[in-house]
Amino acid sequence: MSRLRVAIQKSGRLSERSQEILKNCGLRFAQSKDKLFWYGQDFPVDLLLVRDDDIPRLLLDGVCELGIVGENVAREVMLERNAGNGLSCRRKLGFGHCRLSLAVPEDMDISTSAQLEGMRVATSFPALTRNTLMEKNINMHIVELSGSVEIAPGLGTADAIADLVSTGSTLRANHLRELEVLFHSQAALYCTSISIGEAKQVLLNRLLSRIEGVLQAAESKYVMLHAPRDAIDKVTALLPGVEHPSIMPLEGSDRVALHAVCGETVFWEHLEALKAAGASAILVLPVEKMLA
Ligand code: PRP
Ligand code: ZN
Repeated sequence: MSRLRVAIQKSGRLSERSQEILKNCGLRFAQSKDKLFWYGQDFPVDLLLVRDDDIPRLLLDGVCELGIVGENVAREVMLERNAGNGLSCRRKLGFGHCRLSLAVPEDMDISTSAQLEGMRVATSFPALTRNTLMEKNINMHIVELSGSVEIAPGLGTADAIADLVSTGSTLRANHLRELEVLFHSQAALYCTSISIGEAKQVLLNRLLSRIEGVLQAAESKYVMLHAPRDAIDKVTALLPGVEHPSIMPLEGSDRVALHAVCGETVFWEHLEALKAAGASAILVLPVEKMLA
């Protein structure tokens, strides 16, 4: 029987949320702490736990069919391999936000990236950095490092760095100043573009629709409330991401019960506006699963 392979980050920024999404799809794995391969128990999907940088290559080489990785890492490998079509991004995942930024020593007397012309920039993302600098018409010597990029200016091996920033604490700790963002990134779901045969494709489509359901459910809330019959349109317009609510009459009353799935975050401000429009008995419930 065909089995699918999904690659996720072994440990780091993306690993916990990646595992959580797959778990919420109903996948159970026989995990062994030391091994990088988790066998899928109820559904023929196995998990590869690897370094994030390896995930795009595993997809390009057809070792796995699906992967969760940062857009920056995927973009780097696509540029490096000139493989624009080798990977297809199915969806951004809304977590793991970070940015590839140019940074310079705090005390360097410089205010724009153009002033770095001709200097050396250390980075673990040489292709992405080269490409973006080229678009900005800036020429720099790329010093490729596999890690600890932030110490390069202090060591004198580079004048600036292009590194990932999320909270900014690594830059601060190393007395570096963020000069300009080169690339915005977040975790995304990628499929291999290699043809995988019908049996695997059927499995992949099932998994993709479960993942879509998990992500949508996480964003969605089920809202129930009572409202005056003549305020239905007004109340509906106030519910984020709702077009067609269910309306049920309330016996012996000019009020109705209104139920709807909100596809966007429901804030306290929404509830206050609903109340002001005449709604009462407002309940907001989490949605566990969803299948469109
Ligand atoms: C990145 C980057 C910095 C750090 C910045 O490494 O290289 O070290 O994150 O984050 P901060 O702004 O929150 O301090 P990453 O966590 O991706 O590790 P990796 O390079 O080993 O994958
Ligand atoms: Zn990494």
